[in-house]
Amino acid sequence: MIIIKNEHEIELIRESCRRLSVVHKELEAFIRPGISTRDIDIKGDLLIRQLGGIPNFLHYNGYPASICVSVNDEVVHGIPSKNRILQEGDIVSLDAGMIYQGYHSDAARTHAVGAISPEAQKLIDVTRESFFEGIKQAVAGNHLYDISNAIAAYIKPHGYGIVRDLVGHGVGTRLHEDPQIPNFAQTKRGPKLRPGMTLAVEPMINMGRADVNWLDDDWTVVTADGSLSAHYENTILITEDGAPEILTL
Ligand code: MF3
Ligand code: CO
Repeated sequence: MIIIKNEHEIELIRESCRRLSVVHKELEAFIRPGISTRDIDIKGDLLIRQLGGIPNFLHYNGYPASICVSVNDEVVHGIPSKNRILQEGDIVSLDAGMIYQGYHSDAARTHAVGAISPEAQKLIDVTRESFFEGIKQAVAGNHLYDISNAIAAYIKPHGYGIVRDLVGHGVGTRLHEDPQIPNFAQTKRGPKLRPGMTLAVEPMINMGRADVNWLDDDWTVVTADGSLSAHYENTILITEDGAPEILTL
């Protein structure tokens, strides 16, 4: 069941998302060669709490950290470690969320660590752009899979692999609500989009094949072919008319 939020609920989700956008800005400025992925988690956890939030990923199904930090061929859900040191040329995906006054927010970005290859930068840029192409369809009266199909159509000519094993989702009083939002082409149209839906749209794009594996830590998702992967996610609000509100920017 897709929950339609009322104005009061939207105001709280908006505030949760606004605060999360500050966390992401601060973390982006913090990224540099030589820091550990654990340093990012410590910083992110502190920022979330200083902003009045509760880290929603921490202990979620047993996940042991507040920020998911995924390097290079890691797609999502990398577990921060003091032994994993960022190197110049790496790409690093940060996925973060918080609960603010009972309402969740969720967003992810992939950053360059120092100077990176043009190919890696293109993967990051195309992944981000696919989100914006997708949400052009996130208009009341359209259907959910119009978003999925727009993302898939934008990625296709680039020849990248679109991750199929993980999808976007509704966001509200829970981190993951209905509906699931695939990033690959769908044959059905899916549910109709209505004002008051709050959705996390989150393309995960591999430079090589779409297939992924789970590491033995039961969390870290990696590309099966070892290729680089990028992630871009925002929580959005379907509005009464026209473009969605991007709540985590
Ligand atoms: N942000 C992830 C998502 O988009 C959820 C991470 S849950 C965690 O669905 F437990 F891995 F942190
Ligand atoms: Co999400």
